Amino acid sequence: MPMRTVRTISEIRMALKTLREGGHRIGFVPTMGFLHEGHASLIKQSTARCNSTVVSVFVNPTQFGPSEDLSRYPRDLDRDQNLCLKLGVDVLFLPEASELYPTGFSTFVEPGPLSENLCGKFRPGHFRGVATVVAKLFNIVQPDLAFFGQKDLQQIAVIRRMIKDLNMPVDIIAVPTVREADGLAMSSRNSYLSPEDRQRALCLHRGLTAASEAFQGGERRVSRLAEIARNHFEGVDEIQYSQLVDAGTMEPLAGEVTRAAALCVAAVVGKTRLIDNVLLSPTDEGVQFINHLDPS
Ligand code: PAJ
Repeated sequence: MPMRTVRTISEIRMALKTLREGGHRIGFVPTMGFLHEGHASLIKQSTARCNSTVVSVFVNPTQFGPSEDLSRYPRDLDRDQNLCLKLGVDVLFLPEASELYPTGFSTFVEPGPLSENLCGKFRPGHFRGVATVVAKLFNIVQPDLAFFGQKDLQQIAVIRRMIKDLNMPVDIIAVPTVREADGLAMSSRNSYLSPEDRQRALCLHRGLTAASEAFQGGERRVSRLAEIARNHFEGVDEIQYSQLVDAGTMEPLAGEVTRAAALCVAAVVGKTRLIDNVLLSPTDEGVQFINHLDPS
């Protein structure tokens, strides 16, 4: 079947009804577009595990703060559409803001304490916007599986909490972070970086890798692991946070790492805000262990 591109909720509901009636297992990859290999990796996981794959491209205004980059967020719908076609996507959903947020819209999902640490501290309201739009998209698409990238680890935790709290019948699958050859985590926002900023941004991956290597070498002290990473971070203009947290609850850790942890960093390079993280799991299961964590 050729890929269908739809723009309205009624159109996508109709397209999916037919697939669902055919017994299709539906996979969903929500995105904000300007797709790269990180997004492609989520889509590939979905096409491998589901009969039909839905991708949404929607730059969600409610998750941007008033001084953030909503208006200049990079867009290239033609390229996104071609990539989805090439990857075997079945339905591409491209709603307008007025389709998801019509006049009078006033109901939001409030994610609670999980969203207050890390990015939540620096982007007030961000996870409220993410949770709200993902809840809406889940209600519209009603996927069996939904795929999210490990790069946005706190986003995964917030969404897993939400589906549990609101009894949404969808399984969340975490997919490992895809990186450029030099280690920079892929991100649509990397397109903002000047060549010089891009070079400077590499210190984030270097710091996370150094901490991960120390961890694999047996270092378990939270303060020492954080310090090892921090020693590499001089290249950036500002470190907003660099913290070891429980990989499921995102709560800050102290003392020693005894359970699945993540070292998460957010930094500003030039005018660009970047985030990255590395998992530090004593049982070395990689990102897959997140899929078995209970958020409670
Ligand atoms: P966006 O930043 O476009 O990311 C869409 C999905 O791709 C997210 O699950 C994100 O974690 C994943 N992703 C981004 N970069 C990645 C990389 N380098 N490797 C692997 N996966 C990567 O995240 C959002 O959009 C929005 O908040 C959204 C969930 C769509 C809600 O508006």
